Amino acid sequence: MAQTPLIYVLNGPNLNLLGAREPEIYGSDTLDDIAGRLEDQAREAGADVEVRQSNHEGHLIDWMHEAQAEGAKAILLNAAGLTHSSVALHDAILAIAVPVIEVHLSNPLAREDFRHKSLVGQVAYGTVSGFGALSYQLALDAALKL
Ligand code: DQA
Repeated sequence: MAQTPLIYVLNGPNLNLLGAREPEIYGSDTLDDIAGRLEDQAREAGADVEVRQSNHEGHLIDWMHEAQAEGAKAILLNAAGLTHSSVALHDAILAIAVPVIEVHLSNPLAREDFRHKSLVGQVAYGTVSGFGALSYQLALDAALKL
């Protein structure tokens, strides 16, 4: 029987505070709320998701390597503020063969200038941004169809 597709959903700095953090920008859902919906969506599609969050860049990189070692089909990555600054995350995406889909709740291009550059998006398979918590579900749908 074919293996159950596995999708990693990696979240960067400050996303542990979703729900309370600038709700006018990021909405009122917590990361647990989002994770629960992704788990349901994956189960219905016969897939598994592994949802993680860290405030530390190195953890995100280790988990990207782990996703490859585990044979993940795709990674959804909301690198949060690291999106705009991290050469190491950019390189990690290039270092693995697993497609990475960049995800954002807000639309960074519609915000401050410093958010207009994405070192993640430059090497991501694709990007879903601006749909609030729904961005994750749209990205998971895309990942499952890859
Ligand atoms: C974010 C957008 C980033 O610019 C910001 O630093 C975040 C969240 C988003 O999901 O909209 O922390 O990645």
